[in-house]
Amino acid sequence: KILILDFGSQYTQLIARRIREFNVYCEIHPFNRIPKLDNTVKGVILSGSPFSVRDKNAPMPDLTGIRGRYPLLGICYGAQLLSHTNGGEVLPSAIREYGRATLEVVDSNCPLFTSLSPKSQVWMSHGDTIAKIPDNFKVVASTADVKVGAFSVLGEQTYGIQFHPEVYHSVEGSKLLKNFVVDICGCNQDWTPASFIDETVSNLRNQLGNDKVVLGLSGGVDSSVAAMLLHKAVGPNLTCIFVDNGLLRKNEFSQVLESYKTLGLNVIGVDASQRFYSELKGVSDPEHKRKIIGRIFIEVFDEEAHKIKDVKWLGQGTIYPDVIESVSVNGPSATIKSHHNVGGLPEKMNLKVIEPLRLLFKDEVRRVGKELGLPGGILNRHPFPGPGLGIRILGEVTPEKVRLLQEADSIYIQGLREAGLYDKIWQAGAILLPVQSVGVMGDERTYEFVVALRAVTSTDGMTADWFHFPYEFLARISNEIINRVKGINRVVYDISSKPPATIEWE
Ligand code: XMP
Repeated sequence: KILILDFGSQYTQLIARRIREFNVYCEIHPFNRIPKLDNTVKGVILSGSPFSVRDKNAPMPDLTGIRGRYPLLGICYGAQLLSHTNGGEVLPSAIREYGRATLEVVDSNCPLFTSLSPKSQVWMSHGDTIAKIPDNFKVVASTADVKVGAFSVLGEQTYGIQFHPEVYHSVEGSKLLKNFVVDICGCNQDWTPASFIDETVSNLRNQLGNDKVVLGLSGGVDSSVAAMLLHKAVGPNLTCIFVDNGLLRKNEFSQVLESYKTLGLNVIGVDASQRFYSELKGVSDPEHKRKIIGRIFIEVFDEEAHKIKDVKWLGQGTIYPDVIESVSVNGPSATIKSHHNVGGLPEKMNLKVIEPLRLLFKDEVRRVGKELGLPGGILNRHPFPGPGLGIRILGEVTPEKVRLLQEADSIYIQGLREAGLYDKIWQAGAILLPVQSVGVMGDERTYEFVVALRAVTSTDGMTADWFHFPYEFLARISNEIINRVKGINRVVYDISSKPPATIEWE
């Protein structure tokens, strides 16, 4: 495997994803918590950072156990750090170097550049520049503005590059990373969905033995893939619980339950809708609603789990981005929305937690799910928040409003599928606004609810842009909703990006 030491760059996860695309396994660790290095480690990468090596509190880990013993690649800050700590000089750039640049290879024998073009476009993003390299360092590539575009260290497999090979705009960046990981570090490219499944299932068997496991299914890809892996490992010792909180999409509970049963999973479906509705009565604050929905879920799940004799483990679909310890530069970030609504589950239940997906990124979870034979309906499903329609009904949630929104949402989502747009969109849904407006239908005045449609493109939900629908599609859906859903007489489309808006309205 490859170790990536994170210095807080926004691109660190991208480095990991690029490397895994070559079927090589890698892990991200904070620079100040370097794990024990053994012979499974084939090379180390130092990430970029928002810091400057000249800052008083700049991260300066001790690399003596690494340098010279493992192939080492410093990217941006990582390169500056190697230079700075070995007698080189790092200074502020005269101009802030940001964006595209042309990299020219100076030393074509440097193994980083094997089969790369002599000139290629790279992506720069840095405020500092290496003004002078240490004596035993050698410049191996340059751009017009940056003489030390890349360096190697004489007699060592140590390299530094000033640009970001992990971002898409560095056209041959992936090739360069592959040269480092495969040729220089000698990693085997055998980390595939199939090998992941074999290894995970065998580890799970060892770890769980004959113990019983319980897992909460949501209909989403993460919990479904986690369930399939556990099922492969312990078979009937896994019990899944799928709770209907009354805030799911139309018919979703019965449909998803059916497909899980077809997959051979042992699933208990619990219809707890009324309990959620009665607890939500009169509550309109979004965070308060989230807390209630989270709490009732835990209670219902706990009650069901207690019916299983001797259960020891709680399976969860936690994925890698939730696990990676982030290097915080400005202290903990502010809570915008409390997303982790079932965080309290393990503590309350006194169970040991097992997380078979904790090393995977979302796209990898999908690939593993595909290999496991999960149907496309589950694999490619849009993300759906835990509190469901509860945070898409602005203000107080009532069963009647849920029914209205389910109808409108179902017309919208069905329309997306029929128009071939569903898979082009990262997430879509309808939102019931807490206002009524005047309309006219036939000869009658109506005074009914407004529905907003939301559809966004995104890669991770952190940033998002609104999807540009053809007007004809919007016209058709608007008509259909207003004609078919009694109680809604107006449809609007949300054209806000995130930031500054968020994907959900609450
Ligand atoms: P926002 O609205 O913060 O949403 O832009 C980003 C992503 O997170 C989902 N989301 C939630 N997921 N519980 C969840 O499990 C929540 O309380 C919650 N709030 C937002 C949202 O659907 C989007 O995918």
